[in-house]
Amino acid sequence: MRFSTDIANLVQRRVTGQSLEAPFYTSKEVLDLDLEVIFGQHWIFVGVEPQIPESGDCFTVDIGKASVLLLRGDDMQIRAFHNVCRHRGAKLVTDPSATIGNIVCRYHGWTYNEDGELILAEHMGSGFKKNCHGLKAVHIRSISGLIFICLAETPPADIEQVATTVEPYLAPHDLVNCKVAHITDIIEEGNWKLTMENNRECYHCESNHPQLTVPLTEFGFGFSPDELDERRAEDVKAYEKSLREAHEAWEGCGLPSSEQEHLRNVTGFRAMRLPLKWEGESHTVDTKAACKKLLGNLTDPKLGGLSLWTQPNSWHHFMGDHIVCFSVLPVSADRTLLRTIWLVNKDAIEGEDYQLDNLTHVWTLTNQQDAELVRLTQLGCDQPGYETGPYSEFTEPHVEAFCDWYVSRLRNHLTSDKIEMAAE
Ligand code: FES
Ligand code: FE
Repeated sequence: MRFSTDIANLVQRRVTGQSLEAPFYTSKEVLDLDLEVIFGQHWIFVGVEPQIPESGDCFTVDIGKASVLLLRGDDMQIRAFHNVCRHRGAKLVTDPSATIGNIVCRYHGWTYNEDGELILAEHMGSGFKKNCHGLKAVHIRSISGLIFICLAETPPADIEQVATTVEPYLAPHDLVNCKVAHITDIIEEGNWKLTMENNRECYHCESNHPQLTVPLTEFGFGFSPDELDERRAEDVKAYEKSLREAHEAWEGCGLPSSEQEHLRNVTGFRAMRLPLKWEGESHTVDTKAACKKLLGNLTDPKLGGLSLWTQPNSWHHFMGDHIVCFSVLPVSADRTLLRTIWLVNKDAIEGEDYQLDNLTHVWTLTNQQDAELVRLTQLGCDQPGYETGPYSEFTEPHVEAFCDWYVSRLRNHLTSDKIEMAAE
C-alpha cells in the first residue's frame, strides 16, 4: 500500500514528546496503514497456551481482515493458519473457540490435518495436486506460554531476544501449567493507540484507579524531582532503597527482577518486577493472594508484581498466585478490542482455592475505568479544538517510547516504499 502524501507528512512532522496528531486516532486510512505495517508486520500477542490445553483445541483471532486459526495438534504443538479454505475460500472455523479433529470445510468437505495439509478433497480428478492446496501457515512463537503470531512472510527475528531476555523472568510463574480462570472481551470506544498509550503510564492511576493503586507505591508511577519537598525527597530515597533491596532479595533466590527496557526494538518490550505495598501479595483489593495454590513451585506469595509490556499490543502482570494478560486489537479507527485473560494454577479449584469475583475484581474495574478514559480522549481528539500536547518526561516516558516506536515503524515503511518506487 502506498502512503498518501497526507499520511507521509503526518509521519514526517511528528514532534518528539508530543501526543500524535488527530488523524492518527481518527482516520480510516491511518488505521488501514496500521493494520498493514504494524499488525501485519510485527509479532502480535493473541493469547495464551492454556486457552487450548488439549489436542484438537483451537481458537480464532481476527487481526484486521485476517482470521487466524490456532490449533493444538496431537503432538501438543500449537500451529497457526489463515482460517480460509484453499478451495473457494470459505472461512473454516467460525466459532471463537472449539475442539475439532481435522479441519473440515463445511462447504464441500475439503479436510486438512493438524499440519494444515489437505488430506481429503473429493471429485477433484486425478490431476489435482492435494499437496499444493494446504492451509497457509502463520508464524507463531510461544514465549513461556504467551502466544505471539506474525502475519508477515518474514517476521522480525528479534523475537528471539525477547524470549532469551524474558523467559527467565516468566519461568518461575509457570504459565504453561496454568488454567484460564476467566476471559473478558471489551470494546473500548477509542483508537487502539489510545488504549496502548493509556496503558503506558500511571500518571492517571492515583485519581482514576482506587482499587488498582491500593498496593502500588506512588513513586513507582514516576515523579518530577523538582516538585518534591524535603520530606518527600526522603520518601523517594527510602523507596529507591527498598526497590534495590527487593530486587537483590528476589534475584538472590532466582527471580530476575531488575528493569529490562528495549521498547524501541522492532519487537519492543520492557519487563520489571515491582514490590507491592502493605506486605502486598497480589493485585487484589485486600492485597492478599486471590488463589491459595501458588503458581509453579513458588512457595512465597510476596513476589511483588512482575510486568511485561510488548509493542505493539500487550501487557501482562505476573504475581505469585495469578497472572493477568491483556491483548489489544483494532476493530475500527475508533473501536478497539481489549481481551483480558486471568490465569491460576491448573490444579486450583474455583470456590475452594479462589473466588472468581475476588480474582477478577481489580482488573475488571480498572479496565472499565481505563475504557472511560480512552473514550474521553477519543472524543477530544475528534474535536476541532484538539491540538497535540506534551508528555511528562517523568511520568510518560513509555508513552513517548510507544509513539516513537510506532512512528518509526511507519517511517521505516515509508522509506522502503520510496526506495521501491524509485526502483520501479
Ligand atoms: Fe471449502 Fe469448497 S470452499 S471445500
Ligand atoms: Fe489505567
